[in-house]
Amino acid sequence: MSTQYSDRVPIDAQSVDAPLSRFAVFLVVTVAADSDALATVRETVSGIDDLVKNVGFRDLGGHLSCVVGVGRRLWDRLVPNIRPSELEVFGEVRGDVHTAPSTPGDLLFHIRADRVDLCFELERQLLDALGDAVRVVDETQGFRYFDVRDLLGFVDGTANPIGRELGASAIIGDEDPAFAGGSYVVVQKYLHDLDAWTSLTVEQQEAVIGRTKLENIELDDSVENQKAHKTLTTIVDDDGNELDILRDNMPFGSPGSGEFGTYFIGYSARLWVTMRMIDRMFIGDPPGFYDKILDASTAATGTTFFVPSNPVLQALGDPGESKGPADGSLGIGSLRQTSDGDTAADETEGTAP
Ligand code: HEM
Repeated sequence: MSTQYSDRVPIDAQSVDAPLSRFAVFLVVTVAADSDALATVRETVSGIDDLVKNVGFRDLGGHLSCVVGVGRRLWDRLVPNIRPSELEVFGEVRGDVHTAPSTPGDLLFHIRADRVDLCFELERQLLDALGDAVRVVDETQGFRYFDVRDLLGFVDGTANPIGRELGASAIIGDEDPAFAGGSYVVVQKYLHDLDAWTSLTVEQQEAVIGRTKLENIELDDSVENQKAHKTLTTIVDDDGNELDILRDNMPFGSPGSGEFGTYFIGYSARLWVTMRMIDRMFIGDPPGFYDKILDASTAATGTTFFVPSNPVLQALGDPGESKGPADGSLGIGSLRQTSDGDTAADETEGTAP
């Protein structure tokens, strides 16, 4: 995945580290059961670079980018022989008070740009190409809100990894060599109860988030047992190293219909890190002391996808690549050779949405 952006060429597909943008579209679709639909999906997603070029080249300064994620069930249809080691259907997380639901999704398109028309046009061409092979289950249009604030009024994204840490956190490396260069992405669409949130004082809101509202300064947790959002989402390994994820949350909403939300999107080299964060938010640490952000934010969706590197995505266009031994290309066939023999067929299904 590229880390270089210039105004000379469009941004490569699957650049999870594409620049933060002013607008985004989060499009989640399911794929019809027939083989024609699968063929259409293969052709469209493997050619995503061309679609991004067609639209993005018209204004390179608009920084159009697109990341495609593939859900576990669709992955098993596309590549029956081998699967990324952690790829699972998002498992519902049920706390005492709040639940993170698991909702369907075979493909995620994370489209980002600094112009809303670029996002719109790419989505339009994409859905045109996919036709009735897919059904849209969620389409959310996000926008950047003042100084990168969410609709709760806090600056969102500060603690994201930077530099070399970014790659190590978000991009799969040697731990799963067959899928190196890929990433896991989890999305959750949260709807805010802004009346409940604004009934809190600013100090109370700051304690919930763990940062000051105006100046975005980190705060220590002050109430015994009750950890702030930023603490519940801090995951530390046995050696004391923090395990980060790469977030690109976006506000969305429609004041006219009373809808206000945050679209959470988190990329990670290790799916379990993101899921541990969600467990800690909904169940609490210690259990019962859940994330108070949830008293004003309801998770309406929850879906997990694998983001193949661009060469692997392109190889999905050829059904032959997912079968049989390697042919020497960078495609799935060669990936199969380097795998440890883990097959899709001999594993049990994850939690159904
Ligand atoms: C209603 C939805 C959410 C909102 C409004 C929200 C907002 C925020 C804000 C304002 C911060 C502090 C600034 C920053 O570092 O970005 C933050 C931190 C963070 N959030 Fe969230 N968040 C939401 C959901 C989630 C979820 C579902 C996860 C994980 C699965 C998550 C993971 C994190 C992480 C890892 C941090 C950084 C913690 C640190 O300081 O190391 N957030 N979030």
